[in-house]
Amino acid sequence: MLPHKQIEIRLQLAVRAVLPESDSSSFLVRPCPDPKFGDYQSNALMSLAKSRKLNPRQLAAEVLTKLDVSEICEKVEIAGAGFLNFRLKISSVAQSLEAAARGEHLFFDKSAHPCTVVVDFSSPNVAKPMHVGHIRSTILGDSLARALRLLGHRVITDNHIGDWGTQFGKLLVGWKKHLARASLAADPIGEMERLYKLVNAAGEADEKVLEEARQELVKLQGGDEENLKIWREMIALSQKQFDTIYARLGVKFDHSLGESFYNPQLNPLVDDLLAKGIARESEGAIAIFFDDNPQLKEHPALVRKSDGGFNYTTTDLATLEYRQKTWQPDEIIYVTDGRQQLHFQQVFAAFHKWHGESKMNLAHVWFGSILGEDGRPFKTRSGETVKLAVLLDEAEERAFKIVSGKSPDLPEAQRREIARVVGLGAVKYADLLPNRQSDYVFCWDKMLALNGNTAPYLQYAYSRIRSIFRKSDAVPAQSAGAAPLALSAPEEIALAKHLLNFGLVLGAVGEEFRPNFLCNFLFELAGKFTAFYENCPVLKADDATRASRLALCDLTARVLKQGLDVLGIETVEQM
Ligand code: ARG
Repeated sequence: MLPHKQIEIRLQLAVRAVLPESDSSSFLVRPCPDPKFGDYQSNALMSLAKSRKLNPRQLAAEVLTKLDVSEICEKVEIAGAGFLNFRLKISSVAQSLEAAARGEHLFFDKSAHPCTVVVDFSSPNVAKPMHVGHIRSTILGDSLARALRLLGHRVITDNHIGDWGTQFGKLLVGWKKHLARASLAADPIGEMERLYKLVNAAGEADEKVLEEARQELVKLQGGDEENLKIWREMIALSQKQFDTIYARLGVKFDHSLGESFYNPQLNPLVDDLLAKGIARESEGAIAIFFDDNPQLKEHPALVRKSDGGFNYTTTDLATLEYRQKTWQPDEIIYVTDGRQQLHFQQVFAAFHKWHGESKMNLAHVWFGSILGEDGRPFKTRSGETVKLAVLLDEAEERAFKIVSGKSPDLPEAQRREIARVVGLGAVKYADLLPNRQSDYVFCWDKMLALNGNTAPYLQYAYSRIRSIFRKSDAVPAQSAGAAPLALSAPEEIALAKHLLNFGLVLGAVGEEFRPNFLCNFLFELAGKFTAFYENCPVLKADDATRASRLALCDLTARVLKQGLDVLGIETVEQM
């Protein structure tokens, strides 16, 4: 068991010995923000003392008399208003690392309470190119799903593809009147986009065109065979494009239940809402009003338009009901941009009115926009949205130039492969590193830099460790498994202690939906490794030290690789 966990359990026991009726299960031991004071700390006693009107330092002193952590820690200190500070014994750090080197753990435990979590992410729209806006949802959602899975949760990923809606009216008019089959074969999405824009522009000039589009839509909704056939073809062509991008990004979904999947549920759903008095008629439309909710009071949610059509909200309510029935999840996470905040507040509130408050946690994990270097929404030079495929090509191309400059002697195929891994990694990492709720500036030079908090820097740190093993004849697993860890240099100890916190960071990523915690942890890990490697000779050290340091190198590489994998980023052995 990891040292902080052992301290936590013993602390909980000690508190219960002093205050038998207290619920100590939430007493956590977390890394000290400032290593000056120790490696871990707990502030749990302060709130406990407060709630019982006790003197916190006195309570701390009493708990200490019952707390035995002497094999794990140096003397425990009470600080400030009643913090407990713990400093690990080097022997305990070494033991943990030795167990990891034997393959018993990689500094994290699977959750003791595995949950079922549905992650709704990516969710692009049919007949439109996936653009740079979809990258954030795709990459964030994938990373959250990976983190939760690694921690032992049952994760179900569902791509809620936008395959239904009013845009199909215009698309159908375009398809029937202006389709260029040759262009469709060459670039299906480009052609569908052209058709949509054409009819859209025509509709602005001529009301008759809009009426035509409305009629095509009504026919589609009414089950007209011809329109359904065209619609299905549009979906198939789009799905092909999505699949190509997902394969490139290494993103997989368990389900891709598009919006249209829920069509049969929408009528009965609105009837049920009406029958239960949750929705009512308003100016010919049907809406849910949230009179008891100050935030949503002014924002009723439309579930049926006056023309009988349904809304995004109606589909999302049907989706929620389906997911609850099908998977009984403990949590559903929706990853979209911040502009959908009101929508999800309405959906969650409406669902609670409809199905009652439940234990199922509904989370809207939203993110900000990607900006160009001029601080305005990221666009191409001609002012168009940046297509994802084009962006990924450019990332690989730029990385190829850098790799070829640095390692011109590697065979071209290998340089291409490194460029693929580095280019895609750079784009993903740049997206995951900022606080997701802030906008970030898309800057090629910054994200591809080998120095700085970037994917290439971390990938390089990994490949550098692997090169140590290529130079030594040691096979990492064997040498590491056998070696006792001898930690003496300060850089060695700092690196070892940092490794111990990998699992705590993974846990925080899953709880707060913030992969950026992991980015920063890995960046610090690489920094601590560099300090270690500059100050502590590895290959030139005597046999025992060499084996111990090689083990430390190997564990660092394994955590880097596993951590990057959670971010959806690959590594290469050589760069
Ligand atoms: N298709 C939507 C869009 O591109 C995102 C869907 C998000 N998921 C959901 N269940 N509403 O904006």
